[in-house]
Amino acid sequence: MTSEINPTQALAHARHGSSIGQPLTRRDGILKVTGKARYAADNHPAGMLYAVMAVSSVARGRVTFLDIRAAKAHPGVVDVMTPANRPPLATDPDAKLHPFMFRLDLLQNDLVRYANQPIAVVIAETLEAATEGATLLSPRYEVQPARVGLDAGDSFLPPAVGVGNPGRVERGDVEAGLAAAAHRVEATYETPSQYHNPIEPHAIVAAWDGDALSIDTPSQGMAMAQGRIAGLFGIAPEKIHIRSPFLGGGFGCKGLVSGPQVLGILAARMVDRPVKLVLRREQMFGPVGHRAPTRQALRIGVDSDGGLTALEHHAKTTSSTFDDFFEPAADASHTLYASPAIVTSHEVVRNDTGTPLFMRAPGEATGSIALESAIDEAAWAVGMDPLAFRLKNYAEVEPISGKPFSSKALRECYAKGAERFGWSGRPLAPRQMRDEAGFLVGWGIGTATFPALMFQAEARAVLRRDGTGVMESGTHDMGQGAWTAFAQIAADSLGLDLEQMEFKAGSSDLPDAGIAGGSAHTATAGMAIHNAGAAVIAKLADLATADERSPLFGAGNAGVVAQGGRLFRRDDDSRSESYAEVLARAGLAEIEGRGTGAADPATQSAYAMHAHGAVFAEVRVDPDLGQVRVSRLVGAFAAGRVINPRLVQSQFYGGMIWGASFALHERAVVDPRSGRTLNADLAEYHIPVNADVPSLEALMIEEHDPHVNALGIKGVGEIGVTGSAGAVANAVWHATGIRVRRFPIGIDDLV
Ligand code: MOS
Repeated sequence: MTSEINPTQALAHARHGSSIGQPLTRRDGILKVTGKARYAADNHPAGMLYAVMAVSSVARGRVTFLDIRAAKAHPGVVDVMTPANRPPLATDPDAKLHPFMFRLDLLQNDLVRYANQPIAVVIAETLEAATEGATLLSPRYEVQPARVGLDAGDSFLPPAVGVGNPGRVERGDVEAGLAAAAHRVEATYETPSQYHNPIEPHAIVAAWDGDALSIDTPSQGMAMAQGRIAGLFGIAPEKIHIRSPFLGGGFGCKGLVSGPQVLGILAARMVDRPVKLVLRREQMFGPVGHRAPTRQALRIGVDSDGGLTALEHHAKTTSSTFDDFFEPAADASHTLYASPAIVTSHEVVRNDTGTPLFMRAPGEATGSIALESAIDEAAWAVGMDPLAFRLKNYAEVEPISGKPFSSKALRECYAKGAERFGWSGRPLAPRQMRDEAGFLVGWGIGTATFPALMFQAEARAVLRRDGTGVMESGTHDMGQGAWTAFAQIAADSLGLDLEQMEFKAGSSDLPDAGIAGGSAHTATAGMAIHNAGAAVIAKLADLATADERSPLFGAGNAGVVAQGGRLFRRDDDSRSESYAEVLARAGLAEIEGRGTGAADPATQSAYAMHAHGAVFAEVRVDPDLGQVRVSRLVGAFAAGRVINPRLVQSQFYGGMIWGASFALHERAVVDPRSGRTLNADLAEYHIPVNADVPSLEALMIEEHDPHVNALGIKGVGEIGVTGSAGAVANAVWHATGIRVRRFPIGIDDLV
């Protein structure tokens, strides 16, 4: 994970040309390592009180008693908010006006719908007093049996619900394909509940001033949060100012405003003072989303030459009893492998849990580990090398839709990744390799894919007479380096060096940058920024080329290039003029331009747009103890234009580590009797440490995509998870000859 990139050199280089493509370090990095970055919970407005949630210890039932008197009697406790006295809301938190409006638990009644549901909020002068007060509430419950797991409760069949993914998709005749196959693989895979657990838990500091609300809170989508809060409180969105300059991770759980964040706002309303509410780690396991468990049944038919004849992928998953988000795991089979017949379907079981939510590569991550395992099983059934088998079934067009790909450099990913890894020496059969210590060694492959999405974003650019520029877009930096990447796009869009640019982000009073999710933020907000800058340059060029006093007179817009704070004639770069000169002569202090970023519906309906990758894993397994170690992970990814290779590589690393975690570590253990998560902490909810991923390489494969957007950007935030989990699982099989189909793979699966 070391890098030879010298940031000082990179910066110097950037001065002389394009900022896009430079491996710059994060602009906020120094602020973070010196403790100067102010996260939401670092804010302490005058007169601020502390709020602590009391949460349910049962998964289903009713709260019958809270010892409010005891809590209030504790020194420092100011008030206790319960369903009996919680300030009124303008809309029912259970109302669902559109698919992305999730139902929230805001103390609307005494019902308990899942473990760790907020049941009261204690507000006090100190955090300690609020914490103690919450303990003193000593709730009593009327308890009903919890319904948790894939076999509990009623189920429903999408598509009536969910967030837009169709529940069932069919192309061709799967039964006929299976009947005609020379080899068939039928296997069922299970993935567990997982919780996002960013380093920074959900936190909010809320302050009311009349009907104006000011909040500091981490958000992956400030404008949507603003709209949701405005609806709940019956105020205009403009009355709400959200500041979210830094997030300590998100992974999806900060994509929509959560119930606990709104409880912080309600608490501030109730006591008419600023209030801070920060979730404790264990409170992250319930009210702020999770990845639901899945059971995925795959059937694959293969002809005698190794070509797929049919692919069926059925995913069963869970949702809450009161909302309908589901993990679209089977959709992973839409894109990767050419098959004349494909059917994917979903079934969703009602559970007494919090509502699941999108979590890094929702659907693709869970679906990928099952599909990549099944494809590996099919390759072995046919007796083919698993890479050769994947190449044999390479999709030249998107299998489910028949559309051409806007670009697809997956062959290069396979080739470069395999070469770097040394795949060609792999024995076909499992259990053939050992290391010096006698450990079993196995090599596995997985294919990575994630759609290249775009949502909607806006940006505003200003060029000042002094030659400096400002770009404004309310973007979100979860730690991925968005601030830096957007500043690079902004600088190029205005033809300025980075040092001449100010990039403003992370505040809801800036133009709406949409949501940082679906790996779409760089493409969407990046295009808004690009277009805002271009609008400014177009105005500037109009001024210059129409003015006889300008050396650019008569050049026309198309004939002008903006770089380094100057406009040049495209056909004669000895004729140029600084921005300052153009603005001064026109008597303007500044020029403003606006831009939007959005998917183009015509291009979208014409092309399938995805990023791709190939991941190769080596594991070492102790034959006596069953302990698995990932000794090498090599990923090769093609995701369109790379804005900042250092940051993109980090995204791939993070995703690959997540994939290894998916295969070997992460699992929320849910007690079927109580419905509670037994390992609701980072000691027992296992995530990888450096020792778990000693050698990581992420190769960036060049890919020019003329269709996704003008900048050619695809997403990089989620694809690393996909492919990697399957590669590790397949390597474990190759090491041991044991095919484990329930994840994460544990010691007891292998001995
Ligand atoms: Mo991501 S799950 O879209 O934050």
